[in-house]
Amino acid sequence: MPSDYKVKDLGLSEKGKMLIYWAERNMPVLMRIREDFEKRKPLKGLRIGCCLHVTKETAVLVKTLKAGGADVYLAGSNPLSTNDAIASALVEEGIHVYAWRGLSNEEYYWCIDRVIDACPKITLDDGGDLVTRLHTERREKLGNVIAGTEETTTGVNRQRIMAEKGELMYPIIAVNDAKTKYLFDNRYGTGQSTIDGILRATSILIAGKNLVICGYGWCGKGIARRARGMGANVIITEVDPIKALEAVMDGYRVMRIRDASKIGDVFITATGNKHVIGRDAIDNLKDGAILANSGHFNVEIDIPYLESVSVGWRDVRENVREYTLVDGRRIYLLAEGRLVNLSAAEGHPSEVMDMSFSNQALVVEWLLDNADKLERKVYPVPYEIDRKVAEMKLETLGIEIDELTDEQKRYMRSWMEGT
Ligand SMILES: NC(=O)c1ccc[n+]([C@@H]2O[C@H](COP(=O)([O-])OP(=O)(O)OC[C@H]3O[C@@H](n4cnc5c(N)ncnc54)[C@H](O)[C@@H]3O)[C@@H](O)[C@H]2O)c1
Repeated sequence: MPSDYKVKDLGLSEKGKMLIYWAERNMPVLMRIREDFEKRKPLKGLRIGCCLHVTKETAVLVKTLKAGGADVYLAGSNPLSTNDAIASALVEEGIHVYAWRGLSNEEYYWCIDRVIDACPKITLDDGGDLVTRLHTERREKLGNVIAGTEETTTGVNRQRIMAEKGELMYPIIAVNDAKTKYLFDNRYGTGQSTIDGILRATSILIAGKNLVICGYGWCGKGIARRARGMGANVIITEVDPIKALEAVMDGYRVMRIRDASKIGDVFITATGNKHVIGRDAIDNLKDGAILANSGHFNVEIDIPYLESVSVGWRDVRENVREYTLVDGRRIYLLAEGRLVNLSAAEGHPSEVMDMSFSNQALVVEWLLDNADKLERKVYPVPYEIDRKVAEMKLETLGIEIDELTDEQKRYMRSWMEGT
């Protein structure tokens, strides 16, 4: 057990170990990588600093990195997404964990600072708070870092802006943008776990509800499909005309938030943007409307405005806060507007995180050999890794696919043969 860590209660570790065991059963690709890492120890002596949601799936990832020989420091990447039992179990596994559920803003950055103090050579970030902290308050530690990875859309967006402005000081691999990540994790993972979070928090019936989804990106598409499958009348709001058109052709109603806010029963934001449910929308909400967010930060709903037009609030269930507005309407905000799937449920199912985190593990090893050839930019996951993860996932599912014949390969590379 490491001497440096801070978690809520080490007494929870047995419960945490069982949760991790369950995830390991459902993450066969990452477990194969772990077996290989155990034999080869490719990460021997490497210090890795992580800012990731402390879930059972993250536990499988950091245990895999440790099996490869790495020394891992872990802070949570959201104040409400840490599972305290898992954090404790990981300490017993030799991971330096600084995370507990319900952190204040100061405590959140205190934890990230402990990871930075450890002088990691590689960073694994989810949302960009670790990278941003290193590039602002903790610049003295930047020199140790050779490269990093980023897990989510919002983090990749932030780091691309840093690179454009010449402010990014080390290369970052956008794990989010691997096909074996966003096509499955953002779509099927967020799709299912967002509904899971809303159900665990509220226990409402989805069928027949007007369910408004703000943002028809990868997450929004997944949530919409799951909600429709459960009988919701799905309404989409968008700012991108192409995505909006896609939503129309997928069979959803598309309208402005101004109009949707008058008829919605349940609202889910998944845009990565700020105040998507803003003042006007909040003014329009029906009595009893439920607001949830699945985007990375808790800025998608204008909570300060909601509070300013409320005469009071109380927690009526776990993760359900009832705001009573000056005009008497009662509005329900789930999980303080933080990622509802991670705060009110367990985050994505292990089966999809198997692919996201296999990319992470393989990219970390790849970076050890290649970081010195990279510039201070955001790079895609190498195609070979993305493809390998898909191949391994199919293999573990027992699914075989066809291979191109030599004739087909020649045909695909020729242009003379036509009608
Ligand atoms: N909850 C989770 O576990 C989880 C998982 C993956 C990603 N995320 C986060 O979810 C967010 C969305 O990710 P994504 O991969 O779907 O991104 P995306 O870029 O594919 O989609 C975002 C969509 O939101 C739209 N949008 C932006 N501003 C809007 C506005 N004001 N009104 C309506 N639509 C608007 C964009 O046009 C875009 O289509 C990000 O913050 C990401 O980091 C969360």
